[in-house]
Amino acid sequence: MKQLTGNQVRQMFLDYFESKGHMIEPGASLVPINDPSLLWINAGVAALKKYFDGSEVPDSRRITNIQKCIRTNDIENVGITKRHQTFFEMMGNFSVGDYFKKEAIHFAFELLTSPEYFDIDKDLLYVTVYLDDEEAKKYWINEGLDEDHIVPLEGNFWEIGEGPCGPDSEIFYDRGPKYDPEKQGIKLLEKELENDRYIEIWNNVFMEFEKHSDGTITELPKKNVDTGMGVERTAAILEGVKDNYLSSIWKDVIELICEISGLSYEGNEKSMRIIADHIRTAVFVSADNAGIKP
Ligand code: ALA
Repeated sequence: MKQLTGNQVRQMFLDYFESKGHMIEPGASLVPINDPSLLWINAGVAALKKYFDGSEVPDSRRITNIQKCIRTNDIENVGITKRHQTFFEMMGNFSVGDYFKKEAIHFAFELLTSPEYFDIDKDLLYVTVYLDDEEAKKYWINEGLDEDHIVPLEGNFWEIGEGPCGPDSEIFYDRGPKYDPEKQGIKLLEKELENDRYIEIWNNVFMEFEKHSDGTITELPKKNVDTGMGVERTAAILEGVKDNYLSSIWKDVIELICEISGLSYEGNEKSMRIIADHIRTAVFVSADNAGIKP
């Protein structure tokens, strides 16, 4: 596995997808523009909905971006775990009616495992697929993933309010049995239990449908791909740290909190993670200059 900092992870992701014909789209403001269905931009695709619903035509059908996101649904876990945050950056590759499942799975597998890129041992990767998505399963096996590393789940269907949605395939990194005190192994994934062993790093959504405001779902005219990979979680893995908040992304913030408070991180992890996360969220919201004052 390569040793890479957060900045190197971002750059390698963009370079990889640019080399595969993707146009780099700059990240958008955290405050949604012309989208009353969202309070915050909460995924890379949220800022690109206009391309998927056909209201705007992109210059390229292959797009990659790094998007600032706010998600508050896990706010109660911030501080308690080593990996939850309200603000995070999502790296994504998107196909607007261009490639679909087979190519998306190939790109993900190559970027993660090739010695040229992240060089992660494939035996440390596990994926979930939508129940009955035999096609996705077959493509993962063709790439070289063992069948017993593939977990079918009914809940693998991704949607954000109104807009494009579809079955998804999540990719997990196995940090090993020492993070699995009850030795539950793959059951942790099968039962979708909160755990520190299998870390979700990347989600690939195969967008075939459109959800409308009245809750109905119709087929999209073209099949698309939407993916999202967390910068902070990936950096923590590739930097070999056990706690996201100890990676290069957070180190300076945590050190400053220690300096100002005169306390050490050890023993104060929960409060310091909360302070670091909430400050970062507030700073990025203010920086967007959209009239929001935290
Ligand atoms: N839109 C997908 C997600 O946020 C990739 O998980």
